[in-house]
Amino acid sequence: MCGIVGYAGPRPVLDVLVPGLERLEYRGYDSAGIAVETGSEIAVVKQVGRIADLERALETRRPDGGIGVGHTRWATHGAPNTINAHPHLDCSHTVSVVHNGIIENWADLKSGLIERGHSFASDTDTEVVAHLLEEMSNVGLAEAVRRVMSIAEGALALCVMRRDEPDVLVGARRGSPLVVGLGDGENFLASDIPAFLEHTRRMLVVDDDRVVELRADDVRITDLDGMEITPKERVIEWDLEAAERGGYETFMLKEINEQPSALADTLRGRVDPMGAVTLRELTVPDQILRMIDKVFVLACGTSYHAAMMAKYAIERWTRLPVEIDIASEFRYRDPVLDGRSLVIGISQSGETIDTLAAIRYAKAQGSTVIGVTNVVDSALAREADAVLYTRAGPEIGVAATKTFTTQLVAMQLLGLYLAQVRGALDPGSVAHLVRELSLLPEKVTEVLGLDGHVAAMCGEWADVRDFFFLGRSGDFPVAMEGALKLKEIAYVRAEGYAAGEMKHGPIALIEPGVVVVGVAMDTRIRSKTLSNMQEMKARGATIVMVVEKGAESEVAEVADHVIALPDSPDLICTVLAVVPLQLLSYHVATAKGLDVDKPRNLAKTVTVE
Ligand code: G6P
Repeated sequence: MCGIVGYAGPRPVLDVLVPGLERLEYRGYDSAGIAVETGSEIAVVKQVGRIADLERALETRRPDGGIGVGHTRWATHGAPNTINAHPHLDCSHTVSVVHNGIIENWADLKSGLIERGHSFASDTDTEVVAHLLEEMSNVGLAEAVRRVMSIAEGALALCVMRRDEPDVLVGARRGSPLVVGLGDGENFLASDIPAFLEHTRRMLVVDDDRVVELRADDVRITDLDGMEITPKERVIEWDLEAAERGGYETFMLKEINEQPSALADTLRGRVDPMGAVTLRELTVPDQILRMIDKVFVLACGTSYHAAMMAKYAIERWTRLPVEIDIASEFRYRDPVLDGRSLVIGISQSGETIDTLAAIRYAKAQGSTVIGVTNVVDSALAREADAVLYTRAGPEIGVAATKTFTTQLVAMQLLGLYLAQVRGALDPGSVAHLVRELSLLPEKVTEVLGLDGHVAAMCGEWADVRDFFFLGRSGDFPVAMEGALKLKEIAYVRAEGYAAGEMKHGPIALIEPGVVVVGVAMDTRIRSKTLSNMQEMKARGATIVMVVEKGAESEVAEVADHVIALPDSPDLICTVLAVVPLQLLSYHVATAKGLDVDKPRNLAKTVTVE
């Protein structure tokens, strides 16, 4: 949340900053701003609203110079308005600061600064950094930033400029992501790769507690003691096209349609011709996986729904007990875990602070931690004992789609691998399930062919106020995800519920005009889900049933609409069942004229607790 892009080099600085901010807008979009060192001042332009609003403000004032920084904001401290937009300046306008994260001790720092005569322009936590740096004008900027890093508590990524060092941008990172793009006679500093991908594929990942001095011709990284660090240069493998819309109306629609290839990538090289699972990158020794006696899966948001599915899969296939937790709750319930516990953190971004805090807690208890993430070298990838990448490619739409279905498959591969290593499933059963997994890309392509059918159904629902999504067993996480997608992008009250639990309370909300989507892919319990759907129908709800092909006649009596999907075994079919629900939320949101890629109040990467 919040996006930073900094540039040092010969190009017109706004030609780099503004497109860079557009590519980072998924990180937050309530206000944006730029600061440029012009040679005579640090010129700041900022504006509440989207990057397009900032661009309009830049039409009348377009500062240029050798270095500059831009920021797109997701408000934490201080309302989303122009004053609170970054960059922030000190009293003498000699320092500018942009920040991603939260400075937890900002209130104490601010009152000290006010006592010492500083006056504040904004309500943000960030502004304290500008004033602290103002007090440190007697030391070099990089050293001053190191000192600020030792004073400020919480998650930070900073990028600062100071008038007396007009050729250098200084960045710092603790907890919030920061990467360097290495160019030829120019360099970039950003929260995420798409900000500079059109200019270079060479990059450095900045670790926690590092300070970066970025000049057009030089990048220097030091630790908080000022010792120089040389991180390994990496080459970004995906290209810009992967981070652009490619002819689709929205990123979300593009990403929904990319699921067949994303799933094929998740599976590639991870199953052998005999049908065994081969997770070479999983560096946890098999003997540790054999002595594990309990599994915890921790995640937030959509990733938590992958964790829900993972509980069913791992328990069914390995017979290990699995607990799942919303990551922000985990530490506070005093969970019982030890050196024989396996803790799996799922996070598409790999930067969600709640999930990182939870796995850090687990590591401190001596547990083995596996990270499942889409972002190479993200904090989760680096902090876990081993990592399994979902390989979905960049996902720009704020609502997770292809990162979710690839998480489901990654967790199924992990579940089967555990079962294989521990001898809990015989090789024939593993091979059968692996074969089914490898059919998913083709089957998802078939499901995407239902788009017109789903769109026609949703055309009538732009004004529906209440949706329920119901399912049992593996269909339950799918229902939860269907409801979350609709809430996120269509701003409709949507509840995901265990189908059998409705009668214990929420059924009171069912009346004509409510749409209830029943997910009934799990053949073992379909008749029970159908009974629950009858209970909804009897109270006047409009009923949509998601079933596999061949079951249409079974649900014809209860359903007003049927979505019939290719057949697939229980749990594996979750990957198929969620796709029409992504389309459903998409079409309801577009029927309401909403911006599905940037839903209000959300950010794709949430680096605050
Ligand atoms: C944010 C996003 C959600 C996402 C959640 C967890 O709230 O808006 O779409 O599911 O974070 O993100 P993660 O990167 O940890 O999967």
